[in-house]
Amino acid sequence: MPSTAPPKTSALFRHIEQLQGDAPWGAFLDAGTGVNSALWSSALATDRWCAVTGSAGHGAQVQGRVGARLRAQDRLIVGNWTDPELLAGEGFDTVLADYLVGAVEGFSPYFQPQLFARLRPSVKRRLYVVGLDPYVVGEAPTKAARVVRDIGRLRDAVLLLAGETPYREFPAEWVVNALQTSGYRVTSGRRFANRYRQTWVNGQLDMAARRLARFADPQLAAAMENSIEALRERSLDLCRRDDGLAHGHDYVVAAEPA
Ligand SMILES: C[S@@+](CC[C@H](N)C(=O)[O-])C[C@H]1O[C@@H](n2cnc3c(N)ncnc32)[C@H](O)[C@@H]1O
Repeated sequence: MPSTAPPKTSALFRHIEQLQGDAPWGAFLDAGTGVNSALWSSALATDRWCAVTGSAGHGAQVQGRVGARLRAQDRLIVGNWTDPELLAGEGFDTVLADYLVGAVEGFSPYFQPQLFARLRPSVKRRLYVVGLDPYVVGEAPTKAARVVRDIGRLRDAVLLLAGETPYREFPAEWVVNALQTSGYRVTSGRRFANRYRQTWVNGQLDMAARRLARFADPQLAAAMENSIEALRERSLDLCRRDDGLAHGHDYVVAAEPA
């Protein structure tokens, strides 16, 4: 899979638009919706638009941002892909799974190997999978890689100790293999290099810091707070020196029913 370097989320959506070319979007399903994918996809020239989220909170956020532009034929559904009744018998020309694979761990743990087969009856023409190569495990050959990995590990450790289930990202190769064994033909795959900025560092560490109040052990919470702030200082220093933290990739994989 070739690697390129447009750093912004919108570059991934532009890439999908290029892959789609002149083909109509038709009936469109945003299978793991959120503000970013909903803002992009609900603005496309679709015949009808449907979005699914596992979380009422995400649903309310999406409704707040795109609700005003939805047409009579458009729908926003709070449901879970583990429910066989969800969109049963309903097909869509274009289906988007935008950072859905990684989030499945938080909504239906261990369901990832079944996800694409579950979506398969809904995919009439094209499925686009957007994801993030894991950075909390594996090699960290540079300073930026180590800092990004350390942030991910500390964030996930805090989430676990606060009683939550962190997201679990899967590599592009896993997605390609899972698609091929779930009734799809993969037509395209491309990686996009990431450069994490200060807003990402602060966002991840603030998310962790907010969870400390839920720790059963206040001493552990205080120690974790020190770790979070020390890591924040180290990461922001490196961000300033190197103009961000260049590490890892997002990816877009396109597939069609086999
Ligand atoms: C990372 S979030 C949102 C990403 C989104 N595309 C965006 O633009 O921000 C992933 C979404 O997938 C949904 N999701 C995860 N697992 C799910 C499941 N098993 N069933 C339904 N929705 C699920 C979450 O509720 C959330 O809406």
